[in-house]
Amino acid sequence: MADRYAVIGNPIAHSRSPAIHARFAAATGQDIVYERLLAPVGGFAEAALRFRAEGGRGLNVTLPFKLDAFALATERSARAEAAGAVNLLAFDGERIFGDNTDGAGLVRDVEVRLGVPLAGRSVLLLGAGGAARGVIRPLLDAGATRVAIANRTAARARELATGLGDARVAGCGFDEVGAMLDGGGPFDLLVNATSTGLGGEALPVPGALFAAALLAYDMVYAAAPTRFMAQAEAGGCPRVSDGLGMLIEQAAESFLVWRGVRPDTAPVYAALRAELAAEAAR
Ligand code: ATR
Repeated sequence: MADRYAVIGNPIAHSRSPAIHARFAAATGQDIVYERLLAPVGGFAEAALRFRAEGGRGLNVTLPFKLDAFALATERSARAEAAGAVNLLAFDGERIFGDNTDGAGLVRDVEVRLGVPLAGRSVLLLGAGGAARGVIRPLLDAGATRVAIANRTAARARELATGLGDARVAGCGFDEVGAMLDGGGPFDLLVNATSTGLGGEALPVPGALFAAALLAYDMVYAAAPTRFMAQAEAGGCPRVSDGLGMLIEQAAESFLVWRGVRPDTAPVYAALRAELAAEAAR
């Protein structure tokens, strides 16, 4: 019988994870089924444990349950501990292993698909919430020499940076980014980890940031360029990307953790990009 996995969240109806994992399973010959699981807010542990009792082998965890998943795990990887959040659970008897593949997904998408090695690079991370927190340690481990965190609420960025206790990481408000540029030189990679998404105002950061960077990366994805991508392009950034590749790479890393096989992501990226475009054209 096929091994059961699912993505759990609230809302969950629009998750593309089942489609991604179905493609991975077909390509690697792994016999799995991968479902969507809607859990009520406040009902994460109950839903996750019920899924396990019904034979489930593992879960991907999305908003708003990554902290609940962290708490439910009986063992956690170093990268989950560093992120303070869990997006993957693996069930093995009474043992519940918690991991976090989000940061690895970002690093792999930037380095492999976009061809920008992180070793020796400086990174500006915009945002200081859960999405930002998960990627800092993986960026450093990939060789980034500097990770600055800029946030609308400066205190939150400072707290996050201080909590990491690493001299390569500093936090500031958006209004201090200009001074950071003057003091420490340009940033090679700009990563938008705010939840500003597609619409809204441009982020209040200096235009000089964009012309000096190699790549501006938005963690969210859509058929059309995001607000941040448009802002970066208008500012003269030579390369921009949304986060579709990160989504697919975190899924591939999850598949590897569960199944011991790393699926090829390039064809899945091409297929999902085409699907997004087709849906938008409808
Ligand atoms: P997530 O898990 O998606 O990171 P979060 O923890 O709620 O969600 O964090 C949202 C992030 O987006 C925060 O960095 C937030 O800034 P504040 O800490 O100042 O709230 C940022 N954010 C949300 N809306 C924003 C906006 N309109 N402009 C700038 N930053 C915004």
